Amino acid sequence: SNTPVKVAVTGAAGAICYNLLFRIAAGELLGPEQPVELRLLEITPALKALEGVVMELDDCAFPLLSKVEIGDDANTVFDGVNLAMLVGARPRSKGMERSDLLEANGAIFTVQGRALNDHAADDVKVLVTGNPANTNALIAMSNAPDIPNRRFNALTRLDHNRAVAQLAQKTGVSVNAISQMTIWGNHSATQYPDVFHALVDGRPAAEVVDDQDWVENDFLPTVQKRGAAIIDARGASSAASAANATIEHMRDWVRGTPANDWVSMSVPSDGSYGIAEGVITSYPCTVTDGEYSIVEGLEIDAFSREKIDASVAELNSEREAVHGMGLLG
Ligand code: NAI
Repeated sequence: SNTPVKVAVTGAAGAICYNLLFRIAAGELLGPEQPVELRLLEITPALKALEGVVMELDDCAFPLLSKVEIGDDANTVFDGVNLAMLVGARPRSKGMERSDLLEANGAIFTVQGRALNDHAADDVKVLVTGNPANTNALIAMSNAPDIPNRRFNALTRLDHNRAVAQLAQKTGVSVNAISQMTIWGNHSATQYPDVFHALVDGRPAAEVVDDQDWVENDFLPTVQKRGAAIIDARGASSAASAANATIEHMRDWVRGTPANDWVSMSVPSDGSYGIAEGVITSYPCTVTDGEYSIVEGLEIDAFSREKIDASVAELNSEREAVHGMGLLG
């Protein structure tokens, strides 16, 4: 339609957003016909830098970009938004314990969850990229009782894309030949990238690869530790690929997944695959008409079961920690 879709993005002066905002404004999220209005949230000290980003958005003269508003108050910035991409978060600094990290981010995501609850449009979809993404999404969801839980997702699409790329390189095919890749669990080093349901040119990937040692001792750790490898090489965390994955997750959630394939999305568990309700965890998902469904009925062997359970155990312990801090509303 010609009515602009209002897209909120947080952490808008940060590294990921420098790669994200221009692509949204160019139509890569909602397509070449759909005008967008950007609502950009930052903390007060970063507003000046954000003004510079807005100057650059202006200077692109994007035909689809109807308006840009910026601010440091979530209640104002989230007013009437249809899509919210929560990228901004508090990074781990030196000497910070895991509990400090959860608490610092809890302070951000409780406030943003409430602001979305009170001010976003009725159809709002919320995607959390800022780490620890799954638990931050859980905090936001728990503080937004009037928004259906299933409108809160966390990003594991970058892990998914990393796994697709590794498998394509190993088997010597283009990434287009890879389908049905799955990331299970948390966006962390415990995540489980599952090749056992993936296909290479329509054939079972495990059969094409025929190398269990590679799967266990090369593929898995490479995908799990890719974020750290990029920090080592670049001296900064992945930004362009994280922006790309954030766009692809939201694009597919709004516009649907291709036939005969699925994507990895962290969504509230509904008991599928024996994962108890209460955490936001990565599942294979398809999307039709803006609603995702978890792909059911995949066979999970003992190797996969153990890996999935370990990552879900980590999510459960994060949930218990933030529950203990009173962050779950
Ligand atoms: P960055 O540090 O360059 O930018 C983050 C921005 O968020 C900063 O400008 C900061 O001022 C802002 N911010 C902090 N608190 C805020 C608040 N309460 N409201 C609005 N903005 C706020 O970091 P970068 O590289 O852009 O990464 C952002 C987040 O994404 C980090 O938490 C990072 O760990 C995470 N990430 C997640 C990935 C995933 O696959 N889920 C992949 C890569 C990064």
